[in-house]
Amino acid sequence: MISTIAKLGDLNTPCYFYDMTLLRRTIASLKEAIDNRPIHVHYAMKANSNPEILRAISNAGFGADCVSGGEIRLALKCGFKAADISYAGVGKTDDEINLGLECGIGCFIVESIEELAMIGDISATRGAKAPVALRINPDIDAHTHHYITTGLKENKFGIDMRLLDKAIDTLDRYQSLQLKGLHFHIGSQILTPEPFVELCHRVNRLSKQITSHGHNLEFIDTGGGFGIDYDDPDANPIPDFKPFIDAIMDNLDMSLCNYVIIEPGRSLVAQCGTLLSHVIYVKEGIEKKFIILDAGMNNLIRPALYGAHHRIENISTKTGTTYEKYDVVGPICESSDIFAEDENLPRTRRGDIIAIRSAGAYGETMSSTYNSRPLQSFILKD
Ligand code: LLP
Repeated sequence: MISTIAKLGDLNTPCYFYDMTLLRRTIASLKEAIDNRPIHVHYAMKANSNPEILRAISNAGFGADCVSGGEIRLALKCGFKAADISYAGVGKTDDEINLGLECGIGCFIVESIEELAMIGDISATRGAKAPVALRINPDIDAHTHHYITTGLKENKFGIDMRLLDKAIDTLDRYQSLQLKGLHFHIGSQILTPEPFVELCHRVNRLSKQITSHGHNLEFIDTGGGFGIDYDDPDANPIPDFKPFIDAIMDNLDMSLCNYVIIEPGRSLVAQCGTLLSHVIYVKEGIEKKFIILDAGMNNLIRPALYGAHHRIENISTKTGTTYEKYDVVGPICESSDIFAEDENLPRTRRGDIIAIRSAGAYGETMSSTYNSRPLQSFILKD
């Protein structure tokens, strides 16, 4: 893959490079792991909402997990069916709720009792019936970075499970609300299936609590979170979905719902994306050498925000050359604008191309124009 990039010649950097073949193989591998079991995939488009990526995913027949009115509009434009769109997020505005109702989205994922009442009021005014799923905070530790752990009870997401009865009471007061399912999301970059096993046991108990109130559940949504190999993307370009899918399907009580929804984001798109950048300077300090790139935290914020490490490669030099230790940094006026410290790389020169791997998820979508820098471009390889 990298050699193909190297042949691209005059590259306009910084830019995201997407390997669409790898994306399609990843999608196929997820379908294979699902193996005709009753699972609907709603791609979490916050991971990457590049229209070309969205079209490839909607062509696969997947739905979309959206978190804003903007994402709903874009999903529809890129081929997702309204009925296959779910809409989560703790702060849906009245306008966004109205948009969801107008478009006929499949489900609102409701994150608080206050929001449930608001969706009930707005849909009643419109003479509509809003399909809703309650997002319950299951208080399960996903054992991942604390910024991307979402299912612990002190998180802002979802309805505390101790408030479930109260949420059902609110729901029962509104003719304009139709309960479709329960939703959970415990975190991101989860590397083992165990947290999902724990989640399923909790879900079974909560689903029984719901059915004891006389409600049937069409679906259980277990959210996203499957992790990927940031250390060695070439060894594991496609995540092993099967242990996660099996953990969910072997432990969920399927007598309590008709089908399961999963919302993978990162695991579908991370490995197909690479951030490409030119070296502007190699700065020789007293104790350190710096590779200064034309890409910065404005293009890929994960290292600065989460201390994440992405594999870094110099794709201009031949292997077998001398290696040296470098701090790889961007041009932004922030000390946290560092991609890696003491990275062992072949001797690097001004003008070399540096590839920052596994950047297809939460890269382009989280980029900004900080320091009045233009947004990066992108290229696709089929
Ligand atoms: N469903 C819900 C409700 C979510 O909040 C998320 C991600 C997903 C699905 C998709 O999770 P995934 O399969 O991608 O793990 N910017 C951070 C990750 C934030 C995740 C936010 N929620 C990062 O770069 O690591």
